[in-house]
Amino acid sequence: MNNIPVIAIDGPSGTGKGTVARLLAAELGWHMLDSGALYRLLALAATDRGVSLQDENALARLAPELDIRFGADEQGGEAILLDGVNVTDRVRSEQTGGLASQIAAFPQVREALVQRQRDFRVAPGLVADGRDMGTVIFPDAAAKIFLTASAEARALRRHKQLNGKENDASLTALFREISARDERDANRKTAPLRPADDAVVIDTTELDVPGVMERVLEVIRERCPEAFQSR
Ligand code: DC
Repeated sequence: MNNIPVIAIDGPSGTGKGTVARLLAAELGWHMLDSGALYRLLALAATDRGVSLQDENALARLAPELDIRFGADEQGGEAILLDGVNVTDRVRSEQTGGLASQIAAFPQVREALVQRQRDFRVAPGLVADGRDMGTVIFPDAAAKIFLTASAEARALRRHKQLNGKENDASLTALFREISARDERDANRKTAPLRPADDAVVIDTTELDVPGVMERVLEVIRERCPEAFQSR
Protein backbone atom coordinates (compact mmCIF):
# COMPACT_ATOMS: atom_id res chain seq x y z
CA MET A 1 0.00 0.00 0.00
CA ASN A 2 1.41 3.34 -1.05
CA ASN A 3 -0.13 6.49 0.44
CA ILE A 4 1.61 8.96 -1.84
CA PRO A 5 -1.13 10.46 -4.03
CA VAL A 6 -1.03 10.21 -7.82
CA ILE A 7 -2.96 12.18 -10.42
CA ALA A 8 -3.08 10.30 -13.72
CA ILE A 9 -3.40 12.23 -16.97
CA ASP A 10 -3.87 9.98 -19.98
CA GLY A 11 -4.87 10.44 -23.59
CA PRO A 12 -3.55 10.47 -27.15
CA SER A 13 -0.86 12.88 -28.35
CA GLY A 14 -1.70 16.51 -29.01
CA THR A 15 -4.42 16.77 -26.40
CA GLY A 16 -2.31 19.05 -24.22
CA LYS A 17 -1.55 16.27 -21.72
CA GLY A 18 2.13 17.13 -21.32
CA THR A 19 1.50 20.85 -20.88
CA VAL A 20 -1.31 20.28 -18.40
CA ALA A 21 0.68 17.69 -16.42
CA ARG A 22 3.67 20.04 -16.17
CA LEU A 23 1.56 23.04 -15.09
CA LEU A 24 -0.30 20.94 -12.58
CA ALA A 25 2.89 19.49 -11.06
CA ALA A 26 4.29 23.03 -10.73
CA GLU A 27 1.06 24.32 -9.20
CA LEU A 28 0.91 21.53 -6.61
CA GLY A 29 4.67 21.30 -6.03
CA TRP A 30 4.51 17.60 -6.98
CA HIS A 31 6.81 15.40 -9.03
CA MET A 32 6.06 14.63 -12.63
CA LEU A 33 6.37 11.48 -14.74
CA ASP A 34 6.47 11.86 -18.52
CA SER A 35 6.05 8.16 -19.28
CA GLY A 36 6.04 8.67 -23.06
CA ALA A 37 9.59 10.03 -22.79
CA LEU A 38 10.72 6.67 -21.38
CA TYR A 39 9.38 4.82 -24.43
CA ARG A 40 10.89 7.49 -26.69
CA LEU A 41 14.29 7.22 -24.93
CA LEU A 42 14.28 3.45 -25.20
CA ALA A 43 13.59 3.69 -28.95
CA LEU A 44 16.43 6.22 -29.33
CA ALA A 45 18.91 4.23 -27.25
CA ALA A 46 18.10 1.08 -29.22
CA THR A 47 18.64 2.90 -32.52
CA ASP A 48 21.94 4.36 -31.31
CA ARG A 49 23.19 0.99 -30.07
CA GLY A 50 22.13 -0.99 -33.12
CA VAL A 51 19.45 -2.95 -31.25
CA SER A 52 16.65 -3.95 -33.63
CA LEU A 53 13.31 -2.29 -32.86
CA GLN A 54 11.71 -5.64 -33.69
CA ASP A 55 13.72 -7.55 -31.05
CA GLU A 56 11.35 -7.57 -28.06
CA ASN A 57 13.78 -9.47 -25.80
CA ALA A 58 16.74 -7.23 -26.48
CA LEU A 59 14.62 -4.09 -26.01
CA ALA A 60 13.33 -5.38 -22.67
CA ARG A 61 16.91 -6.10 -21.55
CA LEU A 62 18.04 -2.62 -22.58
CA ALA A 63 15.21 -0.81 -20.68
CA PRO A 64 16.58 -1.18 -17.12
CA GLU A 65 20.09 -0.19 -18.25
CA LEU A 66 19.19 3.24 -19.55
CA ASP A 67 20.85 6.16 -17.79
CA ILE A 68 18.09 8.78 -17.99
CA ARG A 69 17.87 12.18 -16.35
CA PHE A 70 15.15 14.80 -16.59
CA GLY A 71 16.25 18.35 -15.90
CA ALA A 72 16.29 21.91 -17.22
CA ASP A 73 18.68 23.67 -19.61
CA GLU A 74 20.25 27.08 -18.95
CA GLN A 75 17.15 28.87 -20.28
CA GLY A 76 14.91 26.88 -17.95
CA GLY A 77 13.61 24.76 -20.85
CA GLU A 78 13.26 21.01 -20.78
CA ALA A 79 16.50 18.96 -20.88
CA ILE A 80 16.37 15.18 -21.25
CA LEU A 81 19.72 13.43 -20.82
CA LEU A 82 20.55 9.97 -22.08
CA ASP A 83 23.95 8.73 -20.90
CA GLY A 84 24.69 12.32 -19.92
CA VAL A 85 23.99 13.70 -23.43
CA ASN A 86 21.18 16.19 -24.04
CA VAL A 87 18.84 14.44 -26.50
CA THR A 88 15.73 16.59 -25.98
CA ASP A 89 15.15 17.54 -29.63
CA ARG A 90 15.61 13.96 -30.84
CA VAL A 91 13.31 12.67 -28.10
CA ARG A 92 10.57 15.11 -29.05
CA SER A 93 10.60 14.50 -32.83
CA GLU A 94 7.50 12.91 -34.37
CA GLN A 95 9.73 10.22 -35.87
CA THR A 96 10.83 9.14 -32.38
CA GLY A 97 7.18 9.27 -31.26
CA GLY A 98 6.31 6.78 -34.00
CA LEU A 99 9.16 4.44 -33.04
CA ALA A 100 8.19 4.71 -29.36
CA SER A 101 4.64 3.70 -30.25
CA GLN A 102 5.96 0.66 -32.17
CA ILE A 103 8.09 -0.69 -29.32
CA ALA A 104 5.40 0.19 -26.75
CA ALA A 105 3.22 -2.53 -28.27
CA PHE A 106 5.61 -5.24 -26.95
CA PRO A 107 4.36 -6.66 -23.60
CA GLN A 108 7.91 -7.37 -22.35
CA VAL A 109 8.98 -3.79 -23.06
CA ARG A 110 6.02 -2.46 -21.10
CA GLU A 111 6.73 -4.86 -18.24
CA ALA A 112 10.39 -3.81 -18.14
CA LEU A 113 9.33 -0.18 -17.64
CA VAL A 114 6.66 -0.71 -14.96
CA GLN A 115 8.85 -0.41 -11.87
CA ARG A 116 10.84 2.42 -13.37
CA GLN A 117 7.62 4.39 -13.71
CA ARG A 118 6.37 3.51 -10.22
CA ASP A 119 9.68 4.72 -8.76
CA PHE A 120 8.61 8.27 -9.65
CA ARG A 121 5.95 8.06 -6.92
CA VAL A 122 7.70 10.19 -4.35
CA ALA A 123 6.24 12.53 -1.68
CA PRO A 124 4.42 14.87 -1.67
CA GLY A 125 2.77 13.48 -4.82
CA LEU A 126 3.05 12.60 -8.51
CA VAL A 127 1.39 13.86 -11.66
CA ALA A 128 1.77 11.04 -14.21
CA ASP A 129 1.31 11.66 -17.93
CA GLY A 130 0.82 8.80 -20.41
CA ARG A 131 -1.51 6.28 -21.98
CA ASP A 132 -1.96 3.70 -19.21
CA MET A 133 -1.27 5.67 -16.02
CA GLY A 134 -4.82 5.27 -14.69
CA THR A 135 -5.41 1.75 -16.04
CA VAL A 136 -2.15 -0.14 -15.40
CA ILE A 137 0.70 1.76 -13.74
CA PHE A 138 -1.24 3.63 -11.02
CA PRO A 139 -4.69 1.99 -10.86
CA ASP A 140 -5.06 3.45 -7.35
CA ALA A 141 -4.53 7.06 -8.55
CA ALA A 142 -6.59 9.54 -6.54
CA ALA A 143 -7.77 11.34 -9.68
CA LYS A 144 -7.77 10.04 -13.25
CA ILE A 145 -8.20 12.40 -16.14
CA PHE A 146 -8.43 11.37 -19.79
CA LEU A 147 -7.94 14.16 -22.33
CA THR A 148 -9.29 13.85 -25.86
CA ALA A 149 -9.51 16.18 -28.87
CA SER A 150 -10.37 15.81 -32.54
CA ALA A 151 -7.54 14.40 -34.70
CA GLU A 152 -7.45 17.69 -36.65
CA ALA A 153 -7.00 19.79 -33.50
CA ARG A 154 -4.28 17.46 -32.23
CA ALA A 155 -2.34 17.53 -35.52
CA LEU A 156 -2.52 21.34 -35.50
CA ARG A 157 -1.16 21.52 -31.94
CA ARG A 158 1.68 19.10 -32.66
CA HIS A 159 2.49 21.11 -35.81
CA LYS A 160 2.82 24.29 -33.74
CA GLN A 161 4.94 22.48 -31.13
CA LEU A 162 7.31 21.05 -33.72
CA ASN A 163 7.48 24.16 -35.89
CA GLY A 164 11.04 25.30 -36.41
CA LYS A 165 12.39 21.96 -35.29
CA GLU A 166 11.21 19.75 -38.13
CA ASN A 167 10.99 21.45 -41.50
CA ASP A 168 9.38 18.44 -43.07
CA ALA A 169 6.58 18.21 -40.50
CA SER A 170 3.81 19.19 -42.92
CA LEU A 171 0.36 19.28 -41.43
CA THR A 172 -1.00 16.51 -43.67
CA ALA A 173 1.94 14.21 -42.91
CA LEU A 174 1.57 14.90 -39.19
CA PHE A 175 -2.15 14.20 -39.31
CA ARG A 176 -1.42 10.84 -40.96
CA GLU A 177 1.37 9.95 -38.52
CA ILE A 178 -0.63 10.90 -35.45
CA SER A 179 -3.68 8.96 -36.63
CA ALA A 180 -1.53 5.86 -37.30
CA ARG A 181 0.11 6.18 -33.88
CA ASP A 182 -3.24 6.53 -32.07
CA GLU A 183 -4.65 3.55 -33.89
CA ARG A 184 -1.66 1.42 -32.90
CA ASP A 185 -1.74 2.66 -29.27
CA ALA A 186 -5.48 2.09 -28.96
CA ASN A 187 -5.54 -1.36 -30.58
CA ARG A 188 -2.53 -3.09 -29.04
CA LYS A 189 -3.26 -6.08 -26.82
CA THR A 190 -1.27 -4.93 -23.77
CA ALA A 191 -2.34 -1.77 -21.94
CA PRO A 192 -4.17 -0.16 -24.86
CA LEU A 193 -4.92 3.55 -24.80
CA ARG A 194 -8.34 3.87 -23.14
CA PRO A 195 -9.86 5.77 -20.24
CA ALA A 196 -10.00 3.93 -16.90
CA ASP A 197 -13.57 3.17 -15.78
CA ASP A 198 -13.25 5.82 -13.07
CA ALA A 199 -11.56 8.46 -15.27
CA VAL A 200 -13.08 11.85 -16.05
CA VAL A 201 -12.94 12.46 -19.81
CA ILE A 202 -12.34 16.05 -20.92
CA ASP A 203 -12.63 17.00 -24.60
CA THR A 204 -10.08 19.76 -25.20
CA THR A 205 -10.90 20.44 -28.88
CA GLU A 206 -12.51 23.80 -28.13
CA LEU A 207 -10.47 24.68 -25.03
CA ASP A 208 -7.22 26.62 -24.63
CA VAL A 209 -4.66 25.65 -21.97
CA PRO A 210 -6.17 27.81 -19.17
CA GLY A 211 -9.58 26.38 -20.07
CA VAL A 212 -8.32 22.81 -19.73
CA MET A 213 -6.53 23.66 -16.47
CA GLU A 214 -9.74 25.06 -15.03
CA ARG A 215 -11.61 21.81 -15.74
CA VAL A 216 -8.72 19.68 -14.48
CA LEU A 217 -8.44 21.64 -11.22
CA GLU A 218 -12.18 21.25 -10.73
CA VAL A 219 -11.83 17.45 -10.97
CA ILE A 220 -8.90 17.44 -8.55
CA ARG A 221 -10.71 19.62 -6.04
CA GLU A 222 -13.47 17.04 -6.08
CA ARG A 223 -11.47 13.81 -6.20
CA CYS A 224 -8.20 14.68 -4.50
CA PRO A 225 -8.69 17.77 -2.30
CA GLU A 226 -5.61 16.84 -0.23
CA ALA A 227 -3.50 17.81 -3.25
CA PHE A 228 -3.98 21.45 -2.34
CA GLN A 229 -2.94 20.89 1.27
CA SER A 230 0.57 19.69 0.43
CA ARG A 231 1.57 23.04 -1.05
O1 DC B 1 3.12 10.68 -24.95
P1 DC B 1 4.17 10.50 -26.05
O2 DC B 1 3.74 11.07 -27.37
O3 DC B 1 5.50 10.98 -25.64
O4 DC B 1 4.28 8.89 -26.24
C1 DC B 1 5.02 8.30 -27.28
C2 DC B 1 4.54 6.87 -27.50
O5 DC B 1 4.89 6.06 -26.39
C3 DC B 1 3.05 6.71 -27.65
O6 DC B 1 2.63 6.84 -29.01
C4 DC B 1 2.79 5.33 -27.12
C5 DC B 1 3.87 5.12 -26.11
N1 DC B 1 3.40 5.28 -24.73
C6 DC B 1 2.77 4.20 -24.14
O7 DC B 1 2.56 3.19 -24.81
N2 DC B 1 2.38 4.27 -22.84
C7 DC B 1 2.58 5.37 -22.12
N3 DC B 1 2.20 5.41 -20.86
C8 DC B 1 3.19 6.51 -22.71
C9 DC B 1 3.58 6.43 -24.03
